[in-house]
Amino acid sequence: MEKLVIEGGKPLSGAIRIHGAKNAALPILAASIMAEGTITIENVPDLSDIHVMLGILRALGCRAELVGDNVTVSTNAVHQFHIPESLMSQMRSSIFLMGPLLSRLGRVELYQPGGCAIGERKIDLHLQGLAALGAHIEENGSQIVCTANELHGAEIVLDYPSVGATENIMMAAATARGMTTITNAAREPEIQDLQNFLNAMGARIIGAGTDTITIEGVAELIPCTYRIIPDRIVAGTLMIAAAVTRGNVTLEKVCPAHLTSAIHVLKRAGVQITINGDIMNVCALSRPKSVERIVTSPYPSFPTDLQSQIMVLLSLADGVSIVKETVFEGRFKHVDELSRMGADIRVDLNSAYIRGVPRLYGATVEATDLRAGAALVIAGLAAQGSTVIEQIHHIDRGYDRIELMLASLGAGIHRTTPVPTE
Ligand code: EPZ
Repeated sequence: MEKLVIEGGKPLSGAIRIHGAKNAALPILAASIMAEGTITIENVPDLSDIHVMLGILRALGCRAELVGDNVTVSTNAVHQFHIPESLMSQMRSSIFLMGPLLSRLGRVELYQPGGCAIGERKIDLHLQGLAALGAHIEENGSQIVCTANELHGAEIVLDYPSVGATENIMMAAATARGMTTITNAAREPEIQDLQNFLNAMGARIIGAGTDTITIEGVAELIPCTYRIIPDRIVAGTLMIAAAVTRGNVTLEKVCPAHLTSAIHVLKRAGVQITINGDIMNVCALSRPKSVERIVTSPYPSFPTDLQSQIMVLLSLADGVSIVKETVFEGRFKHVDELSRMGADIRVDLNSAYIRGVPRLYGATVEATDLRAGAALVIAGLAAQGSTVIEQIHHIDRGYDRIELMLASLGAGIHRTTPVPTE
């Protein structure tokens, strides 16, 4: 298995361009099948999750390919409504195909995506929303069959501002007959990106980014070309890496407005951040300060996807900090591995109590999920000595060749590929 090897203690410096957002590209690629023709999506990151989604689109009958950072999808021959369990199990985001397939074919067959390292990951809000729009849903064991002769508008109130459920409902409602409102909608920037993509294809949606989204169904959608927003979680990850290595890094093609809560926390920790349009400079000349309390919750609050990464900074801070995780029930898997590197963290239910230590020490550690893996990379950059990270396929799901990004900023990091035995 491939591994990452990191020689810690080198301050990051230099400039780097932030690649396109995984969590915007995935629903937008799914939505592309809602129009017949050729759709071009720009600024798509080269990630394993993206390649899995392209594989699913091909399985449904599309031609889909990533050339550079542009994806071209030809959707004329979409005919398949069954999503193979093998592909579902590879990536939970296959769930984003429900709305588009119901819209395009009136039927979708897939499987419960199942839980993962960070939690149960239920889909009840997705199913409730699609049923409100007129879909008939049958669950046979792990298989789910949704059918709809005609989708119609509805007034939907989400019990929880689920990102995926908001997106699935938006997509299904875009060509439903009549008006749909989603109340208590998720407000993430990726939802605004999906709205803008759907509207570029002729949909009539307003309100994304607020807690109430209104969709006026249209008869059909038409192909378009669209550019994905920058990845705010990749940007936040690199900001924290710059901070823990006491570096000076400039992020380019970033959207600072998408990172308000993370910027606020880093400034409270003593990190200097200056913003000039889509350029952000991050500079840390001294040991970070502790932050009394960070609570993850839906956007625009502090994002759960930066929780494990900020915990590394707090592990090196001068003082005690508390991190409370309210979005996923199992998102502290990185704590054991950080403790093996010398961090002093105590977990009690969904809160972690972090007592800062002067330094971390290199060790051989294992990535358990995407963002926990990113946190271990950050810890390795700051640690004294050498760190080896295993199971790095988790990291490749959300970061486009993370070792090249970081090496370009002066990090001592490389990927080892096992020599095939005879
Ligand atoms: C999206 O996941 C992101 N993934 C996640 O990023 C992100 O952490 C999450 O939103 C929250 O911001 C993509 O966009 C591909 P949710 P999603 O539905 O849509 C519960 C990363 O690292 N819930 O907002 O699955 C659920 O169990 C990934 O890039 C229900 O109970 O998130 C969870 O506790 C990780 N029923 C909470 O809501 C449902 O029907 C948040 O889930 C749906 C969700």
